[in-house]
Amino acid sequence: MNNTVPIIDLARARSGDSEYHSVARQIDAANQHIGFLAVVNHGVPQALLDEMYEVTTAFFDLPEEKKLDVLGNRHTSRGYIPPKQRALARTRGIRTPADLVELFSIGLPCVPDDPWFQRAQDLGYFAANQWPSTPARFQEIWESYFGEMTSLAFELMQLFATALGLDKHWFDDKVDRPISNLFANHYPPLTSEPEPGQIRVGEHTDYGSLTLLYQSDTVGGLEVFLDGTWCPVDPIPGSFVVNIGDLMARWTNDRWISTLHRVQNPTISGAASRRISFPFFCQPNYDAAIETLPTCLEPGGSSRYATITAGMNVSGKTNVSFDV
Ligand code: OGA
Ligand code: NI
Repeated sequence: MNNTVPIIDLARARSGDSEYHSVARQIDAANQHIGFLAVVNHGVPQALLDEMYEVTTAFFDLPEEKKLDVLGNRHTSRGYIPPKQRALARTRGIRTPADLVELFSIGLPCVPDDPWFQRAQDLGYFAANQWPSTPARFQEIWESYFGEMTSLAFELMQLFATALGLDKHWFDDKVDRPISNLFANHYPPLTSEPEPGQIRVGEHTDYGSLTLLYQSDTVGGLEVFLDGTWCPVDPIPGSFVVNIGDLMARWTNDRWISTLHRVQNPTISGAASRRISFPFFCQPNYDAAIETLPTCLEPGGSSRYATITAGMNVSGKTNVSFDV
């Protein structure tokens, strides 16, 4: 275990007012300097995390033609994307060979039948999910995990508001109908030498407000760029890695950093070098306008960023990442 990433104890934050504020201060310090946290005692049942691993591993083990039954596309983040279709370094204007990862992803499982959601769907948000017919219980487990992540993200945004000197509920109406996506990143064992500059996931920052990543505690590879050096984020069993995305940097006018990260190739080969991780990319409501928070603007100071909606931001970045 390395001590680069500060550990945040959510059970402590939930235990009383003064603890809540003390954890919020810890979060503020961590997000100013690193932009990555490890959240422990979050309450998401370990059994669900284990089931996610099991069914998702079984899905990626299916023959390619079965996986292609749920082939997704670059616009919707729904379904299966085979290896080497995307290069996240493109979002930084860097040309690399495609990333050595295959993906499966979903969005909000049960879209409410009301005019607001109807309009959002007409604009291309909340597309229908695609479900494989096997493994058994795949859909049920993924939907349940999506629900847990949505609640955890909402709770973290309230802690973030407190950490930023705002009312706890400041973000509530900006993140209560989120366009978040849940991905599984499968990094198959290396079978041939990567091309020069080709790694599992190229350097990038995440696009949204925050990312909750559950990673295998056996095979690492996630690295963050801090003070000019790539530092490993070693898995802590049962924890979530939480990192700030671009919209949080925009909201805070760079008081908090959207830290550059990547997934490096394994140093071992063979079956043991396979890695699976589950990033849940929290995105605010598609129509939330992201502009500097009142507590992050010096008197007479100006915003470094133009106002953007959460929806425009994620669509732009996603399109560039598939330009391989
Ligand atoms: C990502 C990412 C890290 C990982 O998908 O944005 O940074 O460990 N993934 O899979
Ligand atoms: Ni990322």
